[in-house]
Amino acid sequence: MILEGKVAIITGASRGIGKATAELFLKEGANLVLSAHQNVKLLNDLAKNKQVLVVKADLRLKEDIKKLVKDAFDKFSKIDILVSNAGTFECVDFEQIEESHFDEVMNLDLKGAFFLAQRVIPYFRKQGHGKIINVSSLSGKIGSSAAPHYAVAKAGIIAMTKSLARIYGKDNINVNAIAPSLINTDMVKKIPEERIARLIEAVPLKRLGSPEEVAKLILFLASNASDYISGQTISIDGGMSMI
Ligand SMILES: NC(=O)c1ccc[n+]([C@@H]2O[C@H](COP(=O)([O-])OP(=O)(O)OC[C@H]3O[C@@H](n4cnc5c(N)ncnc54)[C@H](OP(=O)(O)O)[C@@H]3O)[C@@H](O)[C@H]2O)c1
Repeated sequence: MILEGKVAIITGASRGIGKATAELFLKEGANLVLSAHQNVKLLNDLAKNKQVLVVKADLRLKEDIKKLVKDAFDKFSKIDILVSNAGTFECVDFEQIEESHFDEVMNLDLKGAFFLAQRVIPYFRKQGHGKIINVSSLSGKIGSSAAPHYAVAKAGIIAMTKSLARIYGKDNINVNAIAPSLINTDMVKKIPEERIARLIEAVPLKRLGSPEEVAKLILFLASNASDYISGQTISIDGGMSMI
C-alpha cells in the first residue's frame, strides 16, 4: 500500500475531490484527518474506520485551523501529508463582484490554505519531511471570465506553492499544486449548463473529469513516487490548457 503508516490531513473531504481522495488514501493504508464544514455528517461512514479522525472546521477562521492541526497531531503524533482542497466557487460577472464575494473566496480558497500550511510546516520541519498538495484550478493559470475573483485566489495558491517550495526545499518538504478544470462535483453544478457544454467543446478529451481521476494525481504527489517534484502546478484538465 502506497501510503502505509502515513498521516494525511485532507480538507474539504465531505464531497467531491476531497472525498474521492480520502477514499483512495484509505485504500492505500493512510491514517486520515478529514475536515469539512457544513456537511460533516457526510463523513459518518468514513469516521467508523479506526484510521480516520473527522474534524469540523471552518477554514476561514484561524482558530479552527489551529484546532484542526492540533487534533491531528494529538491523535496520530505526526503529520506527513497535507491536502489543502477545501474551496468555494461562485460565478459572478466582474462588475457585479461585491467585497463580500471577494472576501468569501479569498478567506477560504487562499487565506485558509495559506495559514493551514503555516500551521503544518513546523511539524514537517521537525520530522525532516512532508508533502503539501494545494488544490488550485486551471483558472489560476489562465484566468476566468465567469469567476475572476476565484481565479485571483487560485493564482495566489500557485504563487504560495512556489514560495513554500523555495523556502522549505532544504527541509525535505515538497510543495506542489494541481490545476483541475471541469471536474464532475457539486461545484460544477453552479455553472450554467450551456456554459458547461461550450467548455466541454474546448476539452480535447470531450468530457468532464471525475473526482476519482483527480484523487489519483493527488496520491501521486503525496507518494514517494514524486519525491523529486516540488513547486509545480500540474494541470488535470483533459488537455484543455495545452498550448
Ligand atoms: N470541481 C471542479 O471543477 C474544480 C475545478 C478546479 C478546481 N477545483 C477546486 O477543487 C477543490 C475541491 O472542489 P470540489 O469540486 O470537490 O468542491 P465541492 O464538491 O463543492 O466541495 C467543497 C468542499 O469544501 C468544503 N468547504 C466549503 N466551505 C468550507 C469552509 N468554510 N471551511 C472548511 N471547508 C469548507 C466543503 O465542506 P462542507 O460541504 O462540509 O461545507 C466541501 O467538502 C476546491 O478547492 C475547488 O476550488 C474544483
